[in-house]
Amino acid sequence: MSDKDIYILGIESSCDDTSAAVLKNGEVLSNIIANQNIHKKYGGVVPELASRAHLSNIIPVVDSALKESNVKLNEISAIAFTRGPGLMGSLIIGTEFAKGLGLSLNIPVIDVNHMQAHLLVHFINNSKLKPTFPFLGVTISGGHTQFILVEDYFKMEVLGQTLDDAIGEAFDKCGKKIGLDYPSGPEIDNHAKLGDEYKFKFPLPKVKDGNISYSGTKTAFINFLHKNKIKNKDFIVENLNDICASIQKNLIDNLLHKVETLSIENNLSRIVFGGGVSANSYLKKRLKIESNKNNWDVFIPELEYTTDNAAMIGIVGHLKYKKSIKSSLNATPSPRLTF
Ligand code: KG4
Ligand code: ZN
Repeated sequence: MSDKDIYILGIESSCDDTSAAVLKNGEVLSNIIANQNIHKKYGGVVPELASRAHLSNIIPVVDSALKESNVKLNEISAIAFTRGPGLMGSLIIGTEFAKGLGLSLNIPVIDVNHMQAHLLVHFINNSKLKPTFPFLGVTISGGHTQFILVEDYFKMEVLGQTLDDAIGEAFDKCGKKIGLDYPSGPEIDNHAKLGDEYKFKFPLPKVKDGNISYSGTKTAFINFLHKNKIKNKDFIVENLNDICASIQKNLIDNLLHKVETLSIENNLSRIVFGGGVSANSYLKKRLKIESNKNNWDVFIPELEYTTDNAAMIGIVGHLKYKKSIKSSLNATPSPRLTF
C-alpha cells in the first residue's frame, strides 16, 4: 500500500439489495450483493421488510467485501454511500452505517446519487472501454427511466424521463399479471427467448418531447389478457413465451424510439446505458442492430454492474474523493434526490 493509493468502501442500500464494495484506485477488488428474497412472495418490494433486511445484512456484507478484497478497515481512505433516490427506510441504514463507521475510523464519508452511479459505473478501472464525454445516458431500472445529457462526471442534465411507470416497473407489473415471480424482468427475458415477438401487438404510446410513458402499455396488456382469458382460460399458460416476447418487444421499441429521437436532436452518438434493465438480452440484441444503423457507440455495463451494486457507488466515491468532495456528518438520506 502506498500513501497515494485510494481505497474506497462503497455501500449501497437504496432499495432491496444490500451491497458493499472495495475499490483500489478506481478498480473493483470486491463487490458483494445480498439480495432480499423475502419480497418474492409479495410480488414487489415491501419497504419495512427491506429496511429490516438491510439492518441484518449490512455488517456481514461489509465484512465479506473487506475479506474478499484483502483490504483492512484501517486502510480505507473514505466511505461512499447512497444518499438517494430510493426508499427512506433502506437509505437510512446505509447512510447511518457509513457515517458511524466513518466517524469511528476518522475518515471522510461521501454521499452518492444512485442514478449518477448507474452511469458512472462505466468508469471503474476494470472496464476495458470507457465512454468519452459528452454522451447520452439512459438509466433504465425498476424506479427510473431517464435520458441524460452527460457532459462530465458531475455535469448531468435530464433531457427527459418517464411520466409514470419506469421501464423495469412495467416489466415487473406485466410479469406479475402472467404469474411470474418478482422481479419479472429477468423471467420475461428468459421466456421471450423461446417466443415469437411478432405474435401479439400492443400500442406504442406517443409522448412528445424527451419524455416517455409506460402506464398505458400496462393497461393495454391487462385488457389484452382479460379478453383472451374469457375466450380461453388457459391462454396465458399456452402462450407464455409468445406473450413475454411480444410485450418485451413493445417495451424495448418504446425505449429505443426515444433514444433515437434524443440522440438525433442532441447530436449525441455515444449512448451509455445503466440500471437493471440494461441486463436485458433482447435489448442488447436490438442495440447491435440499432448501433449499426445509426452509427452509435453503445456502452452497456457488465452484468454484475447493471442491477444495484456498491461498486458503482464506490467509483463515484473515488471520483469525488479525487476532487476533495466530501459529505458532512449531518448528511441525511434523500428519497427523491435529483441531479
Ligand atoms: O437497477 P435495479 O437493480 O434497481 C433499481 O434501481 O430499480 O433495477 C431493477 C429492475 C427490475 O425492475 C428488474 O425487473 C429489472 O431491473 N431487470 C430486468 C432484467 N434484469 C433486471 N429487466 C429486463 N430484463 C432483464 N434481464
Ligand atoms: Zn438502481
